[in-house]
Amino acid sequence: MSQLVLVLDFGGQYKELIAGTVRSLSVYSEIRPGDITVEEVKALRPIGIILTGGPNSVYLPDSSACDPEILELGIPILGICYGMQLMCHMLGGEVSPGSTGEYGRIVVTPTDKNSAPFKALMSHRDSVSQLPKGFTATAHTDSCIASCEHATGKLYGVQFHPESKHTDGGIKIIEKFLFEACGAVGDYKLDDYIEAQYNLIRQKVGDQNVLLALSGGVDSSVCASLLSNAIPGKLTCIFVDHGLMRQNEGDEIEKVFSKRKLRFIRVNAQERFLSKLKEITEPEAKRKIIGEEFIRVFEEEAEKLGDIPFLAQGTIYPDIVESGGKHGATIKSHHNVGGLPDNLAFSEIIEPLSGLFKDEVRALGKKLGLPKTLTNRQPFPGPGLAIRIMGEVTEGKLNILRKADAILREELDSKRKRPDQYFAVLTNTRSVGVKGDERTYDCVAAIRAVETSDFMTCQYSPLPHNLLSRISSRITNEIPAISRVVYDITSKPPATVEWE
Ligand code: XMP
Repeated sequence: MSQLVLVLDFGGQYKELIAGTVRSLSVYSEIRPGDITVEEVKALRPIGIILTGGPNSVYLPDSSACDPEILELGIPILGICYGMQLMCHMLGGEVSPGSTGEYGRIVVTPTDKNSAPFKALMSHRDSVSQLPKGFTATAHTDSCIASCEHATGKLYGVQFHPESKHTDGGIKIIEKFLFEACGAVGDYKLDDYIEAQYNLIRQKVGDQNVLLALSGGVDSSVCASLLSNAIPGKLTCIFVDHGLMRQNEGDEIEKVFSKRKLRFIRVNAQERFLSKLKEITEPEAKRKIIGEEFIRVFEEEAEKLGDIPFLAQGTIYPDIVESGGKHGATIKSHHNVGGLPDNLAFSEIIEPLSGLFKDEVRALGKKLGLPKTLTNRQPFPGPGLAIRIMGEVTEGKLNILRKADAILREELDSKRKRPDQYFAVLTNTRSVGVKGDERTYDCVAAIRAVETSDFMTCQYSPLPHNLLSRISSRITNEIPAISRVVYDITSKPPATVEWE
């Protein structure tokens, strides 16, 4: 068993980044709710605890707090942002609302004259105005105590976010906390996780068979590879090709998985999906139809196979955290289009990736020999290109969009620094153009490229103009049906990443 660092969640948006950063430093971490009891903490035997940020003010009556006895266990604690305020408030210090707050990269000056000032990501209005007994300030900004430490060397607070890449030397601060204050030895390795999963899967499955709905996304692909290694020949993957995938995507998935020790069933269901989508223009209606049809196809195929007791799913750790920490049979809708129904007669669900963050899943995929095209794949929505075609989805429109999207990806895939997600959209607007001497009246395509760390918010990517004009010129030249290309410069909020 690896040493454990607990990340107690007070509602901050960076909890996964904190826990992921700890793991990237070879220390195992888990996220638990901030109101975990002291008994539960003791049972987990963590070597350190990190209190996350959060949206509340500690002095409000219903703000989140932790069990006060946790602060007295003698386990090293690092409070980040709200976590620092909470710790100081609970130990008798004072937290006050600031008049303006500090947002963005702010200069932090350490009290130790031998340490140079650095810039750190701040995002707070409240701050600690008086430290509890036994604490000293170790750094300041112009308007707040930026970090503090207790004389015992067990309790630390930082008002800024060391987990963010916008804090200079932030990772070093976390590393110092783990290896110096907590005595971490760095004993967490992905290889151990893989070995443990192989054993668990083999024990659980024995001689029986496992079914997996393979979408070709990172999670289900890595799940399929892990299972095919653990129980060669006993995994059946159903890949429902709804015909709404990107250029060559279905064939690429088939090529990768038909080489593995598993049974790969590709269901070519494009016509079936297109006929259901006929004349449907409303985005939510499209999503619902595709979700339901996916389930029907999967059920029919599963029935043909006969009795398979185990259903595997590519659930990953953030899914578990987001669903309130419930492990087990809850089948989350975003995994497969629309989610699989509860009434499928499986005796057990297997979720071998449920302890891993996305970065770890990608790293695992690489270790298992999956090609980069799969492990580095951007998110692709379950309803596929249907929600990137405004209005009715037809085969003709799908072909046009696939070509435009392929050009965009070709131009961006090779760049060293790429946006986090990029794709083409086919609008339902036509516009007048001129090609040669002829007037045209053709489709308008849009390009979407965004920068984000969590996909809950995003900024549009400031792509260089020469790249944009090259993409625009290629799309309009190579695809006769498109006469105009526009670039979507909206962030989320108010827009969403996808157009529908
Ligand atoms: P939105 O459009 O909600 O997208 O800002 C946020 C992220 O989620 C992806 N997305 C989906 N993924 N099924 C999925 O598996 C879906 O129905 C779905 N809709 C959006 C989107 O591509 C972006 O990365």
